[in-house]
Amino acid sequence: MDSNRFPEGFLWGGATSACQIEGGYNLGGRGLSTADMVKFVPKEQRKGDRPPSVTRKEIQQMLKDENDYYFPKRHGIDFYHRYKEDIKLLAEMGFNVFRLSISWSRIFPNGDDEQPNEEGLKFYDNVFDECKKYDIKPLVTLSHYDTPLNLALKYNGWSNRKLIDFFAKYVRTVFERYKDKVDLWLTFNEVNVMSKNPYTGGGVFLEDSDNPLQLSYQAAHHQFVASALATKIAHEINPNNKVGCMLARAVTYPETNNPLDIIKAQKANQINLFFTDVHARGEYPGYILRYFRENNISIQKEVGDDEILKLHPVDFISISYYKSVTESSNSDAERLPDSLFTGVKNPYLETTDWGWQIDPIGLRWALNDLYDRYQIPIFIVENGLGAYDKLEEDNRIHDEYRIDYLKKHIIQMREAIKDGVDLMGYTTWGPIDLVSDSTSEMSKRYGFIYVDMDDYGKGSLKRLKKDSFFWYKKVIESNGKNL
Ligand code: BG6
Repeated sequence: MDSNRFPEGFLWGGATSACQIEGGYNLGGRGLSTADMVKFVPKEQRKGDRPPSVTRKEIQQMLKDENDYYFPKRHGIDFYHRYKEDIKLLAEMGFNVFRLSISWSRIFPNGDDEQPNEEGLKFYDNVFDECKKYDIKPLVTLSHYDTPLNLALKYNGWSNRKLIDFFAKYVRTVFERYKDKVDLWLTFNEVNVMSKNPYTGGGVFLEDSDNPLQLSYQAAHHQFVASALATKIAHEINPNNKVGCMLARAVTYPETNNPLDIIKAQKANQINLFFTDVHARGEYPGYILRYFRENNISIQKEVGDDEILKLHPVDFISISYYKSVTESSNSDAERLPDSLFTGVKNPYLETTDWGWQIDPIGLRWALNDLYDRYQIPIFIVENGLGAYDKLEEDNRIHDEYRIDYLKKHIIQMREAIKDGVDLMGYTTWGPIDLVSDSTSEMSKRYGFIYVDMDDYGKGSLKRLKKDSFFWYKKVIESNGKNL
């Protein structure tokens, strides 16, 4: 076999989320979600590229003065109406997998409703049927940063154990409904991130406790149990179902070979990998118990929780990978701008316009490390370059920087496969431009397909093929050989 081709059956495609593409936030019986309350804040008024924390009171106030704000995630890129055109374009690139998420509040508008919303269920029937038309396998995330708002306001989101039951009911509904259309599932997007801030979808208002870490780790525990239950239910409903967890993999390097730096980086990696440890090994590791003790965190578990975790580990691990991070024991070392994962500057790496350090080799390292640790298949479900694109007069977009970024990462994936890693597939983030999660900008673009729309939702919304569109088509056609 040509060693530059990827394994037969490798899944190539792109990844999106409901709250960043769909729009139609008040159509078809959909309820509001946490993502619908993220107002747009222009760059000059932002600190770093992290969405600001928000309190319950602020959300309640925004609900009253809705017209004073622009909420980009309510509108996405209007996939709700344009999914046929969009999926056709993805098919033209040769996608054999398309990652998308179901908006929980489209199915259960308040999260705690008795009955599901038929119109919402029908929408995804239509979307999956459209994928099927082109032999594209849907890879479906059950919760991608958009918990029903009612669950946040009424129960304080995932910090409340009741969410496990609401989630179980929701996933049972969709597993049953789509059992002939979908067999690849992810439970929580970036499960290590989602309960750190209500904006990131766990719907947890951290101000409710004087120990915010306690609340976010309690929420994580509920998500672990919910994820294991979802895996159990998925397997019962269709034994062919494969369920994965999803981790924002923040590979952390030590700044120097000073043993203090090494330990600091190891600790950061452990805090990150804790989430996959529980999902794949079904138990809490010793290092986290120490961290809990030292940070006054005490997890409330119920009888049976440990057993559920142990009996229903995930079938595969999925990750998002954008950058690596460097940690230092020197408190005077200059730190990079505030971001979800930040650290000190790595002089060997270049950064994107948003200060993310580009590190393709780090991806090979991450894949090897994960596979050594768990020995189960891995799926890269997000990777890509957020960049400003320039629309030329002839409607072309020459995004050679994006091609360069992706090419370098694919080369490292190939190396990891040669190293023996069982890699199932690769879905680049935002194959069609979409609303940024962290900044809600439209101008931070990841796509092969340009969407003519600005940060305030203005534009024709026309879809245009960038140069990378034709490049990725060639990559898929040659199964990764022609880069
Ligand atoms: C991941 C999220 O964190 O990164 C996506 O799962 C997000 O929802 C992506 O869009 C890229 O981040 P950003 O902030 O550039 O949109």
